Amino acid sequence: MSFVLKDPTFREFRDFIYEKCGIFIPDTKKYLLENRLVKRIEEKGLSGFEDYLKFIKYSTNGDELSRLFDAITTNETYFFREPQQLDVFADQIAPKVLGAKKTKDIRIWSAACSTGEEAYTLIMMLAEKQAGVRTEIVGSDISDEVIASAKRAVYNSYSIRNVPEPYMKKYFKNNGQMNFELDAAAKRPVSFSNVNLIDEKKIKTLGSFDVIFCRNVLIYFDDKAKQKVVSHLYNSLKPGGYLFVGSSESLHSVTRAFRPVIINKVVVYQRG
Ligand SMILES: C[S@@+](CC[C@H](N)C(=O)[O-])C[C@H]1O[C@@H](n2cnc3c(N)ncnc32)[C@H](O)[C@@H]1O
Repeated sequence: MSFVLKDPTFREFRDFIYEKCGIFIPDTKKYLLENRLVKRIEEKGLSGFEDYLKFIKYSTNGDELSRLFDAITTNETYFFREPQQLDVFADQIAPKVLGAKKTKDIRIWSAACSTGEEAYTLIMMLAEKQAGVRTEIVGSDISDEVIASAKRAVYNSYSIRNVPEPYMKKYFKNNGQMNFELDAAAKRPVSFSNVNLIDEKKIKTLGSFDVIFCRNVLIYFDDKAKQKVVSHLYNSLKPGGYLFVGSSESLHSVTRAFRPVIINKVVVYQRG
């Protein structure tokens, strides 16, 4: 069967999605929403987009909403993404954070972590560059599907393509068929949970962090949602803590609350 997403229904979907998670779908991306939802409409045996909208608005247990988030999010990620930022973190920011306290503990949030590559990259880099440091990382995302995959920690060749050879040898087991499983020791310090970045109450349950990575997700929000999310991130940082956003993202027009620190051409945002 072929389904058509009419403009008024598209706008209702767009408003609903925006209200629930801050993702703003412009008119030019209507086709994306259409393509991604058709499969679910067919699976549920519904008569079309209008029917699905009603179903999702009035379904009470949140399961369908979670399926909607799985369908609409873009989950592109890989190990050692944007390596200049990662080096600045492991070589400069981590020692600064540790130098400022008496313990050798560091608590990090990989917010919007998708399938976990960022969180595990940070664990491996700290283990190699800051030996003896006790690291705890919380990875979170709005999509249950990617969280489940992050917990499994089995990756394909696309995901691991930038992993330096010595890390590959030490931290991954090749199970054949281009299937690479992360070592249990690298998995242990990382926990994952479903957190919507516009949900302030849920975010508060995570506690406070020395460093937050929230990369390549602000681009999906409009200015208002960006401001909301960034203020949640600010409140989740310990005083003096650091925030990394994607290298193509900037807080310039979003907030003046942070102090931008530039190290090796990388901008890091510090909470006062
Ligand atoms: C492109 S991936 C970025 C992954 C990783 N941070 C990186 O830079 O490689 C964006 C992720 O943001 C998540 N996301 C989108 N909206 C979100 C929201 N409101 N709350 C939490 N996560 C969200 C998506 O599910 C997706 O996995």
